[in-house]
Amino acid sequence: MKRGIFISFEGPDGCGKSTQIGLLGEYLREQGLDVVRVREPGGTPISEKIREIILDKKNSEMSARAEALLYAASRAQLTAEVIEPALKAGSMVLSDRFMDSSIAYQGFGRGLGEGVRLINEFAVGELQPDLTFLLDLSPEKGRARLLKDGEPDRLESEAMSFHRAVYEGYLELSRIYADRYVVVDADRPVEDIAEDIRKAIDSHVLKRA
Ligand code: TYD
Repeated sequence: MKRGIFISFEGPDGCGKSTQIGLLGEYLREQGLDVVRVREPGGTPISEKIREIILDKKNSEMSARAEALLYAASRAQLTAEVIEPALKAGSMVLSDRFMDSSIAYQGFGRGLGEGVRLINEFAVGELQPDLTFLLDLSPEKGRARLLKDGEPDRLESEAMSFHRAVYEGYLELSRIYADRYVVVDADRPVEDIAEDIRKAIDSHVLKRA
């Protein structure tokens, strides 16, 4: 069985990842591909429990290191229980966030730096996305979109300076991992963004499948 393809979606809060993952999933299924969709933090019963702890606004005393370790623990479980088996079975895995979220939010946003990469390499082993879409939207615009949707969670409630640092982190990651990153301008109509994503998939992925 040929190994599946692992695609992650990254970007600031409010950048529209979930809408785009839904549209890409439909497109890939129409081509007869088997698609598995996961989200982070979460995606398994254990990881969803960890998600509740991380995002609960009552947990205001959580240290930055504890936060980083919880995200990594949630990811370790999701990788072992869902992502690796799906890739082994030949599926396309679409992940709403992966390790780069921790590097951007905990590494750059919280200022924890390189340690975040190390704990995540321990959590997921060799696994890396084959392709990563960065939905590029300024944190100010992301915030404005979120506020329309209701109550922000613990991370979303952070100061704009935090979200700026996260955003700069993403731009840096897209330069470091230019071979797997596709940066898409997310400040446009949904269908235009979806079209760019499909084009990138056609040229990077479907020709390999
Ligand atoms: P979620 O409601 O899933 O937000 P989104 O739809 O934007 O993905 O909440 C996840 C929050 O956790 C989001 O603010 C980003 C943050 N996060 C990290 O700080 N580190 C991580 O490793 C991951 C996966 C998410």
